[in-house]
Amino acid sequence: MNYRHAFHAGNFADVAKHLALVAILLHLLKKQAPFAVVDTHAGRGAYDLGGKEAQRTGEAERGIGRLADLRSELTTLSSYLDLVHECGVGTYPGSPLLAAKLLRPQDRLVAIEKHPDDAAALAVLLKPFPKARAETADGYARLAALLPPPERRGVILIDPSYEAEDEFQTAARAFAAAYRRFATGIYAIWFPVKSRAEADGFCGEVLAAGTAKVLRLDVALVAPAEDRLSAAGLLVVNPPYRFEDEMGRAFAEVLPLLEATARFDWLAGG
Ligand SMILES: C[S@@+](CC[C@H](N)C(=O)[O-])C[C@H]1O[C@@H](n2cnc3c(N)ncnc32)[C@H](O)[C@@H]1O
Repeated sequence: MNYRHAFHAGNFADVAKHLALVAILLHLLKKQAPFAVVDTHAGRGAYDLGGKEAQRTGEAERGIGRLADLRSELTTLSSYLDLVHECGVGTYPGSPLLAAKLLRPQDRLVAIEKHPDDAAALAVLLKPFPKARAETADGYARLAALLPPPERRGVILIDPSYEAEDEFQTAARAFAAAYRRFATGIYAIWFPVKSRAEADGFCGEVLAAGTAKVLRLDVALVAPAEDRLSAAGLLVVNPPYRFEDEMGRAFAEVLPLLEATARFDWLAGG
């Protein structure tokens, strides 16, 4: 396991993914009924933007760094910015911390991370959140066992590092098995777009699970760079009502600052 998210935390793709996650969580929070969050590839949960990894790539500086002065009237965007600001200058929250901060007493987070160092840091970070649990494990292997959640409502974030050659297939298979157990859940599946054909093939595999409602969201840097990821996507299965609108409006404020563009495609339903 060579991938370390600290090099990429807070980049344009992280911002887009985390905005989507916050939009989904805010939707789940609209009802009193409890919900579960399962984060299969959770990372360490918080990232030092002044650290050597972030400084080496400069990705966060061109990502969340460009939103430092942004204020918004939009619920999703302002909530996301508030959550980031709450972490303090120089720290960027990962997906499990964003989720943990939004949980109510009736909700629950299971955050799984395989890398022992990151998993240990995550466990410490989540300690103050009584409804959040960190697990050191393989997120793919744990996913099916955690579904369906007793709450019968929730979001599953599948955000692998795609290090292994066959990881697109592994992720699609893990999703299909999860979907069979919990077809009404909201799923957000992140993927890098290094080649259009590979990304389209992956989306096709996810669709083949029989998903009725899938929105694909792509973000890309206007000026692609040779040495870093310049495009990424998120498949949102069973997206919340008006999710596309909400994201479109947030992106209209954020993406010009990130020098990025977005595209939405309904692959099923919509
Ligand atoms: C893209 S990062 C996650 C970022 C995080 N979801 C966020 O948004 O803040 C992917 C993480 O998955 C971890 N990882 C890789 N393979 C894994 C596996 N099979 N199970 C769980 N975690 C894994 C990596 O160590 C890395 O921390």
